[in-house]
This record gives sequence, C-alpha cells and structure tokens, in this order.
Amino acid sequence: MTLTCGVDVGGTKIAAGVVDSEGTILEQARVESPATDAEAIEDAIAGLVLDLRTRHEITAVGVGAAGYVDKARAVVMFAPNIAWRDVPLKAELEQRVELPVVVENDANAAAWGEFVFGAGHDVDDLMLVTVGTGIGGGIVLDGQLHRGAFGAGAEIGHLRVVPDGVRCGCGNRGCFEQYASGSALVRDARAAAVEGSLAARDLLARAGGDALAITGPLITEAARAGDPFAVASLAELGRWLGEGIASLATVLDPAVVVVGGGVSEAGELLLGPIRTAFMAELPARGHRPTLEIRRARLGNRAGLIGAADLARR
Ligand code: BGC
Ligand code: NA
Ligand code: ZN
Repeated sequence: MTLTCGVDVGGTKIAAGVVDSEGTILEQARVESPATDAEAIEDAIAGLVLDLRTRHEITAVGVGAAGYVDKARAVVMFAPNIAWRDVPLKAELEQRVELPVVVENDANAAAWGEFVFGAGHDVDDLMLVTVGTGIGGGIVLDGQLHRGAFGAGAEIGHLRVVPDGVRCGCGNRGCFEQYASGSALVRDARAAAVEGSLAARDLLARAGGDALAITGPLITEAARAGDPFAVASLAELGRWLGEGIASLATVLDPAVVVVGGGVSEAGELLLGPIRTAFMAELPARGHRPTLEIRRARLGNRAGLIGAADLARR
C-alpha cells in the first residue's frame, strides 16, 4: 500500500502524519508554528517530513496551508495570519525533501478529507467551516473540490459581516473571522477579564489570574464545567457561525455543513447555537429541504488526512 505524508500548517501549529489510502494515520508528529518566519516554517515542515520518512516509505507530500494558494497548487500567494507573501512553497519543499509536493489551502484539504473519509462521505455537496486561528472554508460541489478560477475560492473567513468592523489580518475591516474564529473567542474573553468583568471572574481564576493564559481549550473546559460566561461565549460564537452559514447556504445549497477546527472540540456547546441561529436565519426556512450541520468526524486531523489524499491523486 502506498503511503503519503499530509501536513497541516496553521497559525499556531504544524502537524504532519503518514497516511494510507484508507485515510488512516500510521504516525503523527507536531511542532509549534513559527508563524512569523516563512523560512523557519519551511524548515519545520521539512524536518517533520524527513523524520517520518526514516520510518515509512512515503511517495508524496500534501501540504494544507492556511492561506491563499494559487491554481497550480504551488505558491502561497497570501496569508492573513502567517508571514507568507508569494512563497513558492512547493518548489522550496521539493528541494528540501526530494519528493513530489502538492500545496492546497488548509480548509480545502480538510473539506476533502471529510468528504472522502469523514462526516461528508455520504453526500456529493458539502461545505466545511474550520474554526481556529482564522475561519477557513472548503467547498465540494458534485464531488469536486471547488478552487475557483485562481485557486482563491472558498475564502469565507474574509466575507465582510460588519461594515467598518474589527481590523482583520487581511487588511480589511469587519471580516467574518474577526467575529466567529477561535481568535475572536479568546480576544473577547481576555478583554472581559482585563476589564474586570464579574462575569469573567471564574474564567480568569481558572487561568491562574492571568488574562493572557485564557485560551480556546480553557474556555471549552470552563464551559463543560458549567461556567455561564464560557457557555455564553461559545454560544455567541455559534450565533455568528450559524448566521454566516445561513448566508453561505443561500449561495451554495450544500447537503451538509461540516464544522471543524480546534474550537469544534467544544461539540454541542458550539454546534447547538450554530444550528439554532442557522434555523432562525436561513431564507425560505420551512419551505426548502434543510441541510445537516455536522461536527468534523476527523476532528483536527481532517486537513492532514485530506492533504495526504490529494497528494496521491
Ligand atoms: C485564511 C484561509 C485559511 C483560514 C483557516 C484564513 O484567515 O485566509 O486561507 O483557510 O484562515 O486557516
Ligand atoms: Na478554502
Ligand atoms: Zn479578512
């Protein structure tokens, strides 16, 4: 059986794994992402691949990258949350690891992974939304990954949802990912804690009194333990997501929307509010078949598994 290596490069971590043709990960490794230094990222990716390669016979590498990837799947044109500007990632990595490399947008790769092996295996049309450092989108229509004319399609994180809103890493204001991402969740919770909000007092205590120690996983942990502020924070995020998904479904009409990314680990604490807001906002609700909103089945590994599969095609 041929093996490929999938790599998921995000704003906070780089994960790599050896994957077989059934989508099973044989071995996995991860490092922190040196997100501000493009060359250090290449070194880190190559380091992970070369190490895995000493124990597995890998034939190709698929990289899911958190940015705009060109149609040739070779160059990262731009990334809002990583120091990538016209980086020839495919060429740089092929030189370092001496294997064929395919570069794909991280959320596109995750959508592909969920479509082939996960929560969308039973449908032909799906949209995946990743909720992490940014908001990523991946669209499969009629069984094909939708990349657009230039590779820059499905960048749903940069839909403007608030005129003159919060400044985004892409340079615009009011982008969806400034309201509905894990970064937005953490930013707002820290701000509440710093302002001395009584509602955020228990969360701050859980963070050892240090607002900067409030993270996405900590908010999820607090919400699971019943902290009302943490529950409400996830619900607010879910409302933004559900409303955004309703708008996107208006254009795409997918059978399934898969919610992935780190924050989706919160499960129903996030998915419940997403469904409620979606059902409240979907145009023509009650008069059209309703899509299903599902949690990513491959979890955080969807991008890695999808990228590995794209590398073998
Ligand atoms: C980027 C996308 C990426 C998403 C998730 C966004 O900020 O523009 O390319 O897919 O974050 O990582
Ligand atoms: Na995408
Ligand atoms: Zn933006």
